[in-house]
Amino acid sequence: MRPSESPSTTMSTQLKEFQEHLLKSKKIVALVGAGLSVSSGLPTFRGSQGLWKNFNMIDLATPDAFYIDPGLVWQFYSWRRYTALKAKPNKGHYALAKLSQMGKSPQSDLTYITITQNVDGLSSRSGHCKENLYEIHGSLFDLKCTSFMCNFVDHNNFKQPLTKALADTEEEFDPSHNRKRSLDEQEVSISPQFNPVKTLSEKELPQCPVCKDGSLLRPGVVWFGESLPLSLITKVDNFIESEGSPVDLILVIGTSGTVYPANSYVDRVKLKGGKVAIFNTDIENDIVVGKVKDTWGFKGDAAELLPLALKPLIGEI
Ligand code: APR
Ligand code: ZN
Repeated sequence: MRPSESPSTTMSTQLKEFQEHLLKSKKIVALVGAGLSVSSGLPTFRGSQGLWKNFNMIDLATPDAFYIDPGLVWQFYSWRRYTALKAKPNKGHYALAKLSQMGKSPQSDLTYITITQNVDGLSSRSGHCKENLYEIHGSLFDLKCTSFMCNFVDHNNFKQPLTKALADTEEEFDPSHNRKRSLDEQEVSISPQFNPVKTLSEKELPQCPVCKDGSLLRPGVVWFGESLPLSLITKVDNFIESEGSPVDLILVIGTSGTVYPANSYVDRVKLKGGKVAIFNTDIENDIVVGKVKDTWGFKGDAAELLPLALKPLIGEI
């Protein structure tokens, strides 16, 4: 930023440059993380308000955790399903949904995909086209059988609670029910607090309807230590690496970029000459002021900034 330039001038200069490139772009990717759903009321994972601040990921989001205490893990995921179902998609989700529809339309020469690390289902509930939405970490609303012999998967199961025994655990996990807040905290949204919950037997948890031996169903999300679904990753790789021309623009929305392979996509797009636009509440100043080559940074709530930045292409949201 030049000494005479105010932050709002910088923002409008950046926005103008970005929008010129946006309108010229024929191939666009959005890489989405938890920050997109913050204004819908869902927590992120890292940072002072993040889920992993109060919850231990090793105890709740690994295959070992499920093996040791499936009742505990199911209560955590039942609570996350409940919270995601109560949340509504925001304008950021709707903006990407619009882009996805343009990316599919025969009248448009734009090709587009959203790669989301979010499992909250808000993108698909916002009307995003199925064909160009890649939920690489799975979905809270998919259920999979745990038996190696069985490939039962139940997609888009929105039943809540999934079993009678899981019914009251949602409220136990709800931070507003069981955490005393100090006066200071009442003003800010707080990260959820993990509280001791009841012990559940396997019989009280979701069971596979196909397996005769009552194998457990598990949440259809990718846990720490697990591989991402190969077919999906191959499709994303093909979109980025081949399938005609290189990607012109990657929108990096509300993600800390700490998890592979999501964090590799930006460099891969850049290597092939594509440009990057970051939408995040926390961005290095050099990026915000336009000092980093081929990268724009829009600092703030993605739900507000995305519709504004994409408006020349998608219209009013
Ligand atoms: N608008 C835009 N960005 C925001 C907002 C907001 N309103 N609020 C927070 N952010 C940003 C934060 O600054 C941070 O960079 O969102 C990012 C969230 O980062 P993480 O909590 O690390 O979430 P994410 O990047 O999605 O995590 C990736 O890690 O634990 C795993 O499986 C989990 O899918 C998740 C993956
Ligand atoms: Zn089964």
